[in-house]
Amino acid sequence: MTATKHELLRSHLQNLIERELAPDERLPTERELAQEFGVSRMTVRQALERLENERRVYRVRGAGTFVARPAITKSIELTSFSDDMRRRGLTPGSHLRTAESIPAGANVGFALGLSPADEVVHLERVRTADGVPMCIEHTYLSAALVPKLLDRPFDNSLYDLLRDHYHIRLVRAEQSIRATVLDEATATLLQVPAFSPALLVERTAYDQRDRPVERAMSTYRGDRYAFEIEVVRPTTDGTG
Ligand code: GLP
Repeated sequence: MTATKHELLRSHLQNLIERELAPDERLPTERELAQEFGVSRMTVRQALERLENERRVYRVRGAGTFVARPAITKSIELTSFSDDMRRRGLTPGSHLRTAESIPAGANVGFALGLSPADEVVHLERVRTADGVPMCIEHTYLSAALVPKLLDRPFDNSLYDLLRDHYHIRLVRAEQSIRATVLDEATATLLQVPAFSPALLVERTAYDQRDRPVERAMSTYRGDRYAFEIEVVRPTTDGTG
């Protein structure tokens, strides 16, 4: 009997969170929920605690329980530039500056598991958001994995092209983010003063077969780009 009431309460809360209320809207109080579902306040509290642990609601002491915003986890998800911009409501764009086939060299070769003499495709692109330059990207792809890429004019998402034409899905990456300053040439491309601060993101991305496919160095304008990482404190709610 209690289990049924409890389940009803839980599905009601789920419905409120997913459909009826917007993020940051307040849920009914513990007392209201207890009355409506004929359960104790302790039962309601436990249901809310569970949702809090799942980070679907948050509680503010003295104010109530609120619907949590979907987590922003950009840097721990493997996203493309186009994905990132669209999520921010901006239109991604790209100016291709260089597209060439060159020997991998020691560093790129090492990252891609190639010998320095093996061919890679090098793309240099200025990436824009609503037409404003945001980032310069140097991308190196193992040429053997993307035959005829250079014959294929593209000005949209590289990751979409890899998926649609080469059936390569990038599923994980090793990535580092460092602070840097822009040299004059890069600053001009990004339309900011020379020596402005920037973020250098280096990525080696692997496909569904765990082959290293892409090595990329992306320099983002420091004034327009932020990486957001969700960090979670382990919960100790006293229930063991
Ligand atoms: C990000 C990554 C790059 C990657 C790019 C692909 O900017 N740092 O390594 O090449 O996304 O973006 P898109 O698919 O929009 O071309």
